[in-house]
Amino acid sequence: MEPTHKKLRINRERFKQDFDELAQIGATADGGVHRPSLSPAHLEARAWFRQRIEQAGLVFRMDGAGNHSAFLRCGPRGAATLLLGSHLDSVRHGGRFDGPLGVLAALETLRVVNESGLALPVNFEAIDFTDEEGTLVGLLGSSALAGTLEKSVLQSPRGGRERLEAGLERSGLTEDGFFTVRRDPDTLAGYLELHIEQGRRLAASGTQIGVVHNIVGGNSYRLTFIGRADHAGTVGMEERRDAAQGACEFTLAVRQLLTEDFPGCVANVGDMAFDPGAFNIVPGRVAVSLEFRAPDVYLFDELERALLEVAASLAEQRDLKLNVEWLGKWDPAPMSPIVQNAITEAADSLNLKHMTLNSGAGHDAQSLAPLCPAGMIFVPSVDGASHSAREFTHWQDCVNGANVLLRAALRLAAER
Ligand code: GLV
Ligand code: MN
Ligand code: MN
Repeated sequence: MEPTHKKLRINRERFKQDFDELAQIGATADGGVHRPSLSPAHLEARAWFRQRIEQAGLVFRMDGAGNHSAFLRCGPRGAATLLLGSHLDSVRHGGRFDGPLGVLAALETLRVVNESGLALPVNFEAIDFTDEEGTLVGLLGSSALAGTLEKSVLQSPRGGRERLEAGLERSGLTEDGFFTVRRDPDTLAGYLELHIEQGRRLAASGTQIGVVHNIVGGNSYRLTFIGRADHAGTVGMEERRDAAQGACEFTLAVRQLLTEDFPGCVANVGDMAFDPGAFNIVPGRVAVSLEFRAPDVYLFDELERALLEVAASLAEQRDLKLNVEWLGKWDPAPMSPIVQNAITEAADSLNLKHMTLNSGAGHDAQSLAPLCPAGMIFVPSVDGASHSAREFTHWQDCVNGANVLLRAALRLAAER
C-alpha cells in the first residue's frame, strides 16, 4: 500500500463529537433515538448533517429523493464517484448506531481525505439515504438512486399512504422527484457502508471487523383475515366467523413453517390491527403485517409461496376471506468480491481481526449492488441488540470500523 494510505486515520474525537451531537436529535429517555423517516426529528438530523458538511468545506447536495450528500472533488473532472454512506432515519424507538455510524464515518472519511490533499482517480461522496428503515417504504432513497423503485410501491407503502404523504409534504419532496434521481452506473466507482452488525457473531468470536458477503432479501405483505363482526355475548362460539382466529393461527403457523422447513430464513408478524376492535364485538377484520427474509432468490420465492398458501388454507378452514396486499420487497444481494477484498486488506493493514459473514438486516448496499461494486463493513454489537435503545457498540470498535472504511475506500479508489 502507498505510504500516504498507511498514515491516514480518522479523527477519533471529531467523529465522537459528531456522533454524540447527532444522538441528541430525537433522543429518547432510555438512551435511544426516535427518528422515523421524514419526521420532524429526522429532518432536524438532516439539517444538522447539512450544516456539518458545509462547515467542513465540502459541497452539499440533495437529490429529488431527499438523499443528502457531501461531495469531495478529489478526482479529475468527470471522474466516477465512490459512494460511502448509510442513513439517518431510525426505526420507531430505535438505537443511536443503526445508520448514523455509517453516515458519520463517511463524512469523517471525506474530511480526512480533503485535509490530506490527496489526488485520487475518483471523487468521494458521503450519502445519507432517505427512509432506509422502511417506516415508510424501505431502502427508498437508495432504490430511487438505483432506478429500481416501483411506482406502485409508493401508492401502497408499507408504512401507509397517509404517513408517506405527510412526510413528503413536511420535507418538500414530491413523488415525481424520486423518479429523477437514477444514477448512471458508469458514474459510480462503488459503494461502501460501515454498519453495526446487529447480531452476536463478531462479539462472540472476539472479531473486530465483519466483511459482509451477502445481504438477505426482505418482502412485506399485509394479509387481512375477513370474517363477520357480531355481538360477542349473544352469538355462540360455533356460529362465529372470527377474523382473529385466522390471524392468530397464521402467526403460530408462520413460526412452525420457518423452523421446520426454512432454516436460515426468518419471518415476523410485527403488527395486527383489529377492526372494529372492541371488547364486545367479534373481530370482523384483522390485518396482519408480515415481513420475511431469505438469503437467496430461490428460498425467497419458495418461502413467499409457502407463507401465502398457509394463510389461504387457514382462512378457508375458518370460513374467512383473505385479502392479500403486497407492499414491496428488496432482493437478496451478494456483495462484490472486489470490495470484500479491499475491506479485508484494509483490516489487515490495521492489524484488526476480521471474518466474513452475511447480513440478516436490510441495507442500502443491496440497492446499490446491481449497479456498482458494493460492500459492507460490520463492527460488533454488544449483546447483538439492535432496533432498540439497547443498541450499543464500543467506541474503539466504531473507530476501527471508520478506519477500515477510510482505507478500503482509498484502496478501491487506487484500483480504478
Ligand atoms: C433495516 O434495518 C431492516 O433490516 O429492517
Ligand atoms: Mn441500518
Ligand atoms: Mn435498521
